[in-house]
Amino acid sequence: MSSSAPIGIFDSGYGGLTILNGIRSLLPSYDYVYLGDNARAPYGTRSFDIVYQFTLQAVRRLFDLGCPLVILGCNTASAKALRTIQQHDLPTLAPDRRVLGIIRPTAEAVGSITQSRHIGILATEGTVRSGSYELEIQKLYPDAVVTAQACPMWVSLVENAEYDSPGADYFVNDSLSRLLARDARIDTLVLGCTHFPLLLDKIRRYVPDHVRILSQGSYVASSLADYLQRHPDMQARLSQGGTCTYYTTESADRFRESASIFLGTPVDATHISLS
Ligand code: DGL
Repeated sequence: MSSSAPIGIFDSGYGGLTILNGIRSLLPSYDYVYLGDNARAPYGTRSFDIVYQFTLQAVRRLFDLGCPLVILGCNTASAKALRTIQQHDLPTLAPDRRVLGIIRPTAEAVGSITQSRHIGILATEGTVRSGSYELEIQKLYPDAVVTAQACPMWVSLVENAEYDSPGADYFVNDSLSRLLARDARIDTLVLGCTHFPLLLDKIRRYVPDHVRILSQGSYVASSLADYLQRHPDMQARLSQGGTCTYYTTESADRFRESASIFLGTPVDATHISLS
């Protein structure tokens, strides 16, 4: 990989593939490395410290694989680990490399979409507890009313390829009813967990038609394109062979099978361990 300088995309599991898809559609010429920590997913119920440690291990590995730029394609990791990695670790670990998250670009997008100024966030317990979405959105749009709802079980449904099962209806409806009961004026729903776009068909079924549902992929992609334009030095360092390589901490066979369903195309994967 010596001449390759790919963009690294990390998630606890398969969810980041929705971010990878969005980014590759807009910026197909770059090389990419995807790393899913499937063996240790879900992250959403884990403590700050553990999510930080696991995320740092993944970032280090992506640096070892030659990535000058890493995107945390995971809201939980963006909420719980990004700032510490950027401020504490990067200056000594790799001062010339960059790690970006996905909460800020999503927060930027939502303000121009909502009409009622009432925004709902669907996310993991960890992201909700961090208060990151409320903080980022209200910094940019102080008039916004943000209500965040934890959706226990949704990540497990996706990781276990149960997102289309009848059981999924119960859990999807349950979390959505709770959120809409807390604020009936919500007109914009953010899927603040990268796994949730896989449940989109079911989510639509349980929200009123006028409610906009935002998946993050395209917003993160536009934000990255903008970042690269503003940082030509970083852009020049990235290799552009149009390749994508997949790594997982789970069995490569299992990843191959599930990721191919998520991506709609067969992919190859390699098993790695993180420590
Ligand atoms: N996909 C991750 C996110 O965006 C979380 C999934 C997990 O709980 O591991 O928050």
